[in-house]
Amino acid sequence: MKFAPFKLERYFEKHEFSAPYLLSCSDCESVSMTDVLSWGDPLVKDLWRNLDLGYTETRGHPLLRREIAELYHGMNEEHILVCTPGEGIFLAMNVLLQEGDHVITMFPAYQSLYEIALGLGCSLDRWQPRLGDIWTFNLRDLELLIKKETRLIVLNLPHNPTGAMMNVGDFREILDMASRLGIYVFCDEMYRYLEFNEESRLPSAAQEYKKAVSLCGLSKSFGLPGLRIGWLSSKDKALMENLASLKDYTTICCSAPSEILAIGALRSRELLIRRNLGIIKNNILALEQFFANYANVVSWIPPQAGTLALCRLAGLLDSSVFCAGALEKEGVLLVPGDLMDAGRSFFRIGFGRKNMPEALARLARYIEKIAV
Ligand SMILES: Cc1ncc(COP(=O)(O)O)c(C=O)c1O
Repeated sequence: MKFAPFKLERYFEKHEFSAPYLLSCSDCESVSMTDVLSWGDPLVKDLWRNLDLGYTETRGHPLLRREIAELYHGMNEEHILVCTPGEGIFLAMNVLLQEGDHVITMFPAYQSLYEIALGLGCSLDRWQPRLGDIWTFNLRDLELLIKKETRLIVLNLPHNPTGAMMNVGDFREILDMASRLGIYVFCDEMYRYLEFNEESRLPSAAQEYKKAVSLCGLSKSFGLPGLRIGWLSSKDKALMENLASLKDYTTICCSAPSEILAIGALRSRELLIRRNLGIIKNNILALEQFFANYANVVSWIPPQAGTLALCRLAGLLDSSVFCAGALEKEGVLLVPGDLMDAGRSFFRIGFGRKNMPEALARLARYIEKIAV
């Protein structure tokens, strides 16, 4: 196969729908279709009642694109292509890259953010964060990785799996540096709106820099992964044309019911985000207590945004063994670090789901069993 197997997705395929306690998922608690429709204003209800199940527009329903464009300053529906989130990464990498290009990706990373580039014959450098009290992506480290063949810098902010953020000054400096050197930026913003402190929300890269493509969608922050709706945005019209053309070879267009539900969800976005941040903040309190109780076995590097963090096992405990035991003994699904090339003493924890405290109590029971 041209692209190496997606380690995390292969693992989830095996366990996600059978493990009783999911403690490593990246999405927020999902919402029922009935709820989305009941929040809908008359326009959404009308669109739903008159929904025709024919093909839809390749770039996305015009009303949906307009609703999405409102999330950005200075952008309109021409700057938006609706697609499945994972598809958006595939489209952008294929349009932007060719064999021999050099790519820099924030690391560890959601695998398609670097694997597609490798499959296309690009060379890759990993921009690793420094570990202090929190994870920090240092700009000087990034500068050292830039070469004359560098075509693309791949960012993911808020970051999966560390929950790291960046200050706006550093973010703008990256865009300025990319602009000076003519480098494209792909910014995965799937966890945007889940900043624990709203003031730390970054502007979208696509809004700030013409050679940037941003990815966002409804799967994570909005808790609607079953809709399979995301979008690419860029102010570069020629690039948007190329992305839409390539979509003819992937899905052609999105699902008609999903598009209408997505319009409804975006029109109720404040309610949805408030609800999801409420769940997250509640879960973080439970996590802080958990890490205080089990400090001799496990610690975490506190996240600043999103639904994910990396936890570190004390001593020589291998996270693959630890995670396999948690699943076998207590039915708790975690993600071991080696599935994300994040190191064998780390595992990923997800805290966007309502039943997280229950899953955490199970993990605590497992730790008590192995720590005696
Ligand atoms: C950073 C990041 N980007 C993109 C995606 C893809 O989203 P979806 O699974 O909805 O296609 C994910 C999913 O986990 C992700 O974490």
